[in-house]
Amino acid sequence: MPEPDNYGIKLFRSSPSLGVDKCLHISSGLRLASPIATEDGGAPFASPAFIPTPEWRAAPLQWWPMREFSPATGIALIRIPNWGALRTAALGGDKTTIDRAAEAVLGQVSEWCGLRDVVFSGVTSHRQDLATVTVDTKTSQRIGLHIDSWDRLPNSRRHLATNRVCINLGPEPRHFLFLGVTVQGMRSRLALAGIPLAAPDDSKSVLDAFFHRYPDEPVWRLTLRKGEGYIAPTENVVHDASTVGSSDPVYCATWRGRIGLLPIRRG
Ligand SMILES: [Fe+2]
Repeated sequence: MPEPDNYGIKLFRSSPSLGVDKCLHISSGLRLASPIATEDGGAPFASPAFIPTPEWRAAPLQWWPMREFSPATGIALIRIPNWGALRTAALGGDKTTIDRAAEAVLGQVSEWCGLRDVVFSGVTSHRQDLATVTVDTKTSQRIGLHIDSWDRLPNSRRHLATNRVCINLGPEPRHFLFLGVTVQGMRSRLALAGIPLAAPDDSKSVLDAFFHRYPDEPVWRLTLRKGEGYIAPTENVVHDASTVGSSDPVYCATWRGRIGLLPIRRG
C-alpha cells in the first residue's frame, strides 16, 4: 500500500521573496484534443490525447515550507539571475559552448537546490501559443497531458523516480501544466471508485481510466517568466508544458536527476 504522503502534489518556491503574482491558475477540467485539427497550429494530437479546458482562473497560492519538500511530490518554483548566455549558445553555439553555459546555469540552480546524479537533457524550443507542447518523436503527434517514463519504473515505484528541473530561457513566459495528484493517488481513487485497470502497472492504462472517470479534474498552470524554472516529479505526476499567450518560440533548458530544495530560507 503506498504511503498517503505520496498521493498529493505540494507547491514550493525557492524563496519567500520570489514574486508570484498571477503565476498560478486552474482550469475547470480536461477535454479530448481533436486528433485531426491542429487547433493551435501545432503538430496534430494523438488519439486519445487529453488537454486542459481553455478557461483559466486565478488559483489560490498554497506554498509549503521548504523543509517539507519531497522529490516525489514537490513542485517548486525557482528563479536564477543569468540565463541569457545559455539561450545565446543554444541559438548558434557548438556543443562545448552550450555545455559550458548549461554548467553555469546549473551552478546558479545549486544555490537553491540539492543536486545529485543530474544530467543535462538539452535546450528545446517550442513554437508560440501551443496548448501543449510534447510530441512523440516516433509518431510526430502531440500526446497531451502525460507521465514521463525515462526511468522505466512500474507505477508502484514511481515515487522513487528521478525528477527534473527546467528553466525558461525566454523570451516569453512558458507554462507548466500538472494535475494535483500523483500516480499512486490516481490509482487509489480509481480503486475506491471500483474502476478496474487493464494494466495496473502501465501508466497509460491509469491515465486513460482516470481521465475518463474524472473529466472535471482540475489542471494547474504554473507560469514561468524568463529566468524562472520549476522542479517537478514528471515521472510521478501528469503534466505537460504550454506556450499559450506567447508570440515567439519559447526556449527552455532541462536537467534530470535527484533534485531537492535546500532547506534554507533566503531573502
Ligand atoms: Fe513530459
